[in-house]
Amino acid sequence: MSVAYETLLVEISGGICTVCLNRPQALNALNETMIRELDHLFDELAANDSVKAVIITGSGLKSFAAGADIAQMKDLSVEGGRKWAQLGQSVFRKIENLPKPVVAAVNGFALGGGCELAMACDIRIASSQAKFAQPEVTLGITPGYGGTQRLPRLVGKGRAKELLFTGMMIDAAEAYRIGLVNQVTAPEELLAAAAAMVEKIMKCSPFAVQMCKAAVNNGVDDELDTGIVYEAEVFGLCFSTADQKEGMAAFLEKRKANFTGR
Ligand code: HXC
Repeated sequence: MSVAYETLLVEISGGICTVCLNRPQALNALNETMIRELDHLFDELAANDSVKAVIITGSGLKSFAAGADIAQMKDLSVEGGRKWAQLGQSVFRKIENLPKPVVAAVNGFALGGGCELAMACDIRIASSQAKFAQPEVTLGITPGYGGTQRLPRLVGKGRAKELLFTGMMIDAAEAYRIGLVNQVTAPEELLAAAAAMVEKIMKCSPFAVQMCKAAVNNGVDDELDTGIVYEAEVFGLCFSTADQKEGMAAFLEKRKANFTGR
């Protein structure tokens, strides 16, 4: 990456970019600098063809991100609050719509904006030590980085409302049980599990994965009839790729496909 960040550690290896939220003194709380740096970084990741997948995690063992920075928010005006939410929302939308898989490796607290960031990722893998909450109501505010919208879509309205209305904290096992996370691992195996997940995805046709992501993201909030129209479009587009020809030829020739991303 061309820029050194103040609040992020960024490492690219084997096509995987690992982004580490790095404000350990504040449990990786998302301050304005971090939000703006994520914005810049995800523009770079979208444009960088050598990056095939992204993992987001937090520095240290204790926290993924303990929310938006409360010290920075405490004196916001009505207009300032709206703008604060909109800035983060647009960055999280950018992460959600990156045309490459993004996996959250949740190593500890994922609270408020931290949980919202994890929910903007495609897949969540949690350490057994991870804890999740939307505690905003205990601070006199609502979630503002998409939590009221993505949480019910992930876990259903009833469970989401319980979490949103009480601010209660749940552990990784409960997060798995309700479908908030895809997998729970021992803390020391978290990054390896996240890497294994993205490597499994990277063995598949990148274009097909990208189209699956676009179809889910575009269709999930639409009527089924609209969603399947989009699905038929992306299905058709796959037949313009060398990877479709290779994938189907490999199956018929009883060998492993060698995808080139074309
Ligand atoms: C700013 C934070 C912070 C936060 C922790 N810190 N969370 N600073 N914003 N969200 C800081 C603490 O002030 C403290 O700094 C240091 O990190 C360590 O935290 P402690 O509280 O001492 O640690 P501990 O006792 O272990 O408690 C951990 C914790 C607690 C349970 C995670 O810190 C906590 O409840 N944090 C707030 C969680 C929260 O309410 N998040 C939602 C925020 S609202 P010092 O300098 O004292 O060492 C939000 C809205 C998003 O996210 C939408 C916006 C539009």
